[in-house]
Amino acid sequence: MAGTGGVTAGYGAQVPYGAERAGWPRLDGIAYGGDYNPEQWPEEVWTEDVALMREAGVNLVSLGIFSWVKLEPEPGKFEFGWLDRIIDLLHEGGIAVDLATPTAAPPAWFLKAHPDIRPVTRDGKVLGGASRQTYCPHAPEYIAACNRIAEQLAARYSDHPAVVLWHIHNEYGCHVAECYCPASVTAFQEWAQARYRTLDALNEAWGTAFWGQTITAWDEIDAPREAPADVNHAQRLDFARFSSASMLELFKAQRDIVKAHNPAIPVTTNFMAVLNKPMDLWSWAREVDLVSDDHYTTAGSPVRHIELSMAADLCRSLAGGAPWLLMEHSTGAVNWQPRNVAKLPGEMIRNSLAHLARGADGIMYFQWRASRAGTEKYHSAMVPHAGTDSRIWRDVVELGRQLRELRPVRGARVEADTAVLFDWESWWALELDSRPSVDVRFLDMQFAYYEQLWRAHVTADFAHQSMDLSRYRLVVVPQSYVLRAEEAANLRRYVEGGGTLVVSYFSGIVDENDAVHLGGYPGALRDVLGVRVDEFLPLAAGQSVAVHSAADTGGSEAEVAGSGTVWSEPVELRGAEAVLTYADGPAAGHPAVTRHQLGEGQAWYVSTRLDPATLREILRRAAADAGVEFDTQTPDTLESVRRVSADGSVHPFTLDHTAG
Ligand code: GLA
Repeated sequence: MAGTGGVTAGYGAQVPYGAERAGWPRLDGIAYGGDYNPEQWPEEVWTEDVALMREAGVNLVSLGIFSWVKLEPEPGKFEFGWLDRIIDLLHEGGIAVDLATPTAAPPAWFLKAHPDIRPVTRDGKVLGGASRQTYCPHAPEYIAACNRIAEQLAARYSDHPAVVLWHIHNEYGCHVAECYCPASVTAFQEWAQARYRTLDALNEAWGTAFWGQTITAWDEIDAPREAPADVNHAQRLDFARFSSASMLELFKAQRDIVKAHNPAIPVTTNFMAVLNKPMDLWSWAREVDLVSDDHYTTAGSPVRHIELSMAADLCRSLAGGAPWLLMEHSTGAVNWQPRNVAKLPGEMIRNSLAHLARGADGIMYFQWRASRAGTEKYHSAMVPHAGTDSRIWRDVVELGRQLRELRPVRGARVEADTAVLFDWESWWALELDSRPSVDVRFLDMQFAYYEQLWRAHVTADFAHQSMDLSRYRLVVVPQSYVLRAEEAANLRRYVEGGGTLVVSYFSGIVDENDAVHLGGYPGALRDVLGVRVDEFLPLAAGQSVAVHSAADTGGSEAEVAGSGTVWSEPVELRGAEAVLTYADGPAAGHPAVTRHQLGEGQAWYVSTRLDPATLREILRRAAADAGVEFDTQTPDTLESVRRVSADGSVHPFTLDHTAG
C-alpha cells in the first residue's frame, strides 16, 4: 500500500522525549506484583510479605504511592528510614521496586498550610482532604512541594540496585482532572494567550460573535464554569486541552527531576486508558519511557472480557506496539462499583493472560495485601483478609508459576492489519451539551465497532487520524467528530493508496475549534466517502428504523434486513454506491450504508447505529475489500491472539470465555 506522506509524524507515535528512551526495567522475567503499601502494617508483617512474595513469584512492587506524609511528616523534614528498611528487605528477597513519587496524597499539614490549593469544581465546590488527589494542578505551592519530594527521593534512591522503575504520581486525572480556582483561571488565560497570540485570533477560534461573547482583554477569560446557559463550546474544548496539558506538565517536571539523577531508570505513570476521558493519552504516551495502565473490569457485564481487550489494545497502541505494563488490575472484586461482584473461578488468571496476549510484559495488581482500614478495605488484593488459605492466594501462586513459564513471550509483538481510530478531542467535543442527540456517546461507538471486530477474531490496533495509516489494510472510524482538514486529507490519501476505510456518522463534522465544516455533512469527509447529507435526522429515544439491501447491488451478496437506532440521515450519493437503504423512518428511501471506490481503495459510510448483526455483516464486507481475515466460523467465546518474537517465534494465546 502506498505511504501517506506529509502526516504529522509522531503524534502518539512514541517519538522519544529525550535523546533516547530508557528501556524496559531491569527484571528477570515477566514483571509480576502489585502496589505495596507497607506503611499500613507493622514491620513484623514486612518479613512475611517478602516471604510470600517469593512464594508467589513476585518480582516487582510499586512502593510509596501514598506515602507523602510518612516521608515528609513536617514541611521540609524528611524521614526515609522506614523506606530504606523496606527497600533493602525487598532487595534481599530479590524483589525489585517501582518507586513512586507520593504526590497524589498531599498531607493534611500541607492542605492546612495552603488551603487555597484545594481544587474547585465546575459548579464552584471546593473539595476537601481526608481523601486523596486534593490539589490544584496550577497551584505554585503544590508544584514546588511535589518537585521537592521527587528530588529528595531521586537523590536518595536513584542508585539503589532494587529501584528499576519510577512511578510518578498516581493516575493523573483521576478524581480531579480540572480546576476552576483563581490560579487555574490565570493559568488558562496564559495558555490561551500563548496559543492564540492575538485576541482577534482567539475570538475567531472561539466563535465569540455568537451571543456577544467577544473577549476584549486577556484577563476577561474565565474558566468555562457553570453558567446560566450552555458555555462556549470551543472554549470548553480548549479548557479540556489545557487541563490535560497542565497535568502533563506536572508529570514532566517530576520525570525530568528523577531522570537527572539516573537516566537509565525508566519512568512511567499509570494511565487508565479507556476510562480516562480528561487526559489525551496520545500526547501523554509520547512523554513516558514505557506505557503502564490500570484496568478494572465492570462486574457483571457480559462483555467485560471484550472491554478488557479493547483497553489492552489501546495501551499497546499508545506504546507504539512496544511492550507495556499492566500496573494495576484486581484479583477479585473492587470496592467502588455499586455491586462489587467477585471474579468467577478462573477469571482472574484469564484476565491477566488476556492482557499478556495483547502485549503486556508485566502483570501487576492493586494491591499486594488487602487493607484493614480505609475506604478500600473491601477491595480484593493478592493477599486477602483471609490470608493464604484462600482461593485468591492459590490463584496468585498459580499465576506466578504460569508467568515464569511464559518468560519467552517477553518482548514479542502483536501484529495487526486493522486499526480503529480513537481521538480524545472528539470524545471531549462530541459529548458537550446542545448536540443533535444525547445518545451519541463516544465510548459506546468505539466499543460497538471494536466488539464486532473482536467477535470475528480480528486483532486491531488503535490509531489517531493524524498518523501514517498505510500499514493497515482496514481502518475503522467510529466517531472522529473533530477532524482537521489535513487529517481528512490524510484519510483520503490512505484510501487512494489502497486502504479500506469504514466511517460512522457524526465523524468529520467540525474542525479543531468545534466549528462546522460547511457545504453539507460530513463536511471534511464528503469527497472521501462520495456522499452528501443536508440534514441530520437523529432518532427518538427507543426508535428504530429498518434497513435492507439496496436494490442495485448486483445480487452477489446475501440480502440484509436489519435495523438502525440513534441516528439517520438522508444520504445523497456523490460517487458512492448504496449498499443498504432505509426502508422506513425519516430517511426512508435514502442510502443508509454506502461504499465509494476511490483510487486504489474504498471508503464505506454507515449513517446509523446498526444492530450488531448488520454491523458485523458490513464489517465483514469491508474486511473482504481490504483482504483482512474476518472469521465468523470460530465461536466468539474463544479469544485468539498471537505475539511474535523478533526471531520469528510465534506465541499463540487462546482463551475460552465460556468458562465464566
Ligand atoms: C486505582 C488506584 C488505586 C486503587 C484502585 C482501586 O486504580 O490507582 O490506588 O484506588 O484504583 O481499584
